[in-house]
Amino acid sequence: MPEPLQIQFAPLSQVPTGTLMLLAGEELALGASARNCDERSKGLLMRAAGAAGFSGKSKTAIEILAPSGIEAQRLIMLGSGRASKELDRLLLGGFAFAQANARKGEAATLVCDPADPGDAGNDGYAADLALGALLRSYSFKKYQTRGKPDEAAEAEVGDGLKKLLILCDRAETASKAFLARKALADGVFLARDLVNEPANQLGPVEFAERMRDLAGSGVEVEVLEEEALKALKMQALLAVGQGSQRPCRVVVLQWHGAKSKRAKPLCFVGKGVCFDTGGISMKPAGGMEDMKGDMAGAACVAGLMLTLAQRKAAVNAVGLIGLAENMPSGSAQRPGDIVTSMSGKTIEVLNTDAEGRLVLADVIWYAQERFKPRFVIDLATLTGAIMVALGKEYAGMFANDDRLANELMAAGEISGEKVWRMPLGKAYDKLIDSKNADMKNIGGRFGGAITGAQFIQRFIKDTPWVHLDVAGTAFDSARNDINQSWGSGWGVRLLDRLLQANYEKAER
Ligand code: BES
Ligand code: MN
Ligand code: ZN
Repeated sequence: MPEPLQIQFAPLSQVPTGTLMLLAGEELALGASARNCDERSKGLLMRAAGAAGFSGKSKTAIEILAPSGIEAQRLIMLGSGRASKELDRLLLGGFAFAQANARKGEAATLVCDPADPGDAGNDGYAADLALGALLRSYSFKKYQTRGKPDEAAEAEVGDGLKKLLILCDRAETASKAFLARKALADGVFLARDLVNEPANQLGPVEFAERMRDLAGSGVEVEVLEEEALKALKMQALLAVGQGSQRPCRVVVLQWHGAKSKRAKPLCFVGKGVCFDTGGISMKPAGGMEDMKGDMAGAACVAGLMLTLAQRKAAVNAVGLIGLAENMPSGSAQRPGDIVTSMSGKTIEVLNTDAEGRLVLADVIWYAQERFKPRFVIDLATLTGAIMVALGKEYAGMFANDDRLANELMAAGEISGEKVWRMPLGKAYDKLIDSKNADMKNIGGRFGGAITGAQFIQRFIKDTPWVHLDVAGTAFDSARNDINQSWGSGWGVRLLDRLLQANYEKAER
């Protein structure tokens, strides 16, 4: 694995190293440091900006080589626009990383001295830029052996940006403010790593074993093996995995961060289908490789739990992960099979490719029985239909609770991980009634994402609940300034924001 980007904060007085990056706000508004650079270079910055028609708009930059009067070989002026929102600053940080990374040299210095830092303050602004740069720097190169050991070749072409020095006012507070953001990046990276990993390397057992590492951050980790799952009567989940050589697992991750140990926990449940062939109702070959990412809901839950523990969030949270591999074989479940879920409700499995809901049915039931949570949020790459409805820009949100839904919507706007609320209702619910059992696992041709959600709702007692269908956002969504990875880590920032904004202060 490539080393993650090293980030350091230092006062504005420190001598920069490597590529020097300065911020220019709208209409070329410069902070004191950038103005000082301009003076030392006898107005070079302003002249260059004029020549290039650069006005400080966001996502624009100009490069000046060997600027006279300035102690850097390469200077880049970055348009920051207004950057008045947190997300703007993350994107700007990501853009800055990309600008330096595309050029020679493994060190860069970003002078964070915006003309107007707004509410964030100079230190918050700097910490946001750092998080954006860090998120952007992620890459999954674990299995690329080419160009790794050949040091001579590396020295010649360079190997991208490795060290970013951020100069700002109150560098020490910026550095402290960065710690919680670093925890967030660690959670996002864990989620991305898990999603990017191919299914031969990461089956249910390997996923569960990797979760044991979270204990090092203070998460209580429990792995339920097949014996335990059978004893709990999780027959719906087990049916999904029965065609695979690899056994199922359920992982329970607990973080006790609230002042009161007894405060009702918040439960996050993730679909962890490590590979989804469709089973006997097999998927077509084209694009099936993407189904290594069918555990992205679980990956998000794992990432969130890591983040909460690392930043010592003041909440009690439980992450529950249902792991199975959906394979066709002589032992696989058949269309028409009827299984009894842990809840006692029976399910007619008319399509073995609608397997995620079977996994969730049991884990969600277990979550409520054991933890009596304040709410349940489940995340699942549940349906192709949600992409037909919403594309890859928004995740589908289904909720039985307006308040929780609205909190998530707000967190989505702030984090940029956006959710769009979809309907639930009796008429849709009827579509999954079965002649032969309590319900069937598919609802017919139309409204596929909704009937999927209705199915899950049948396993919700009277707990506030949100289901996020992340099939469109969790992998292969549009790359942007803070994500260049196939597995996006979608949802970690959204849920972290939800908790920070609504569930931590009250608990303190
Ligand atoms: N994991 C898939 C959904 C999916 C498809 C996620 C493409 C991401 C990209 C899920 O298990 C599935 O196969 N759903 C079926 C449900 C249908 C059989 C009712 C689908 O969407 O076609
Ligand atoms: Mn499927
Ligand atoms: Zn699936």
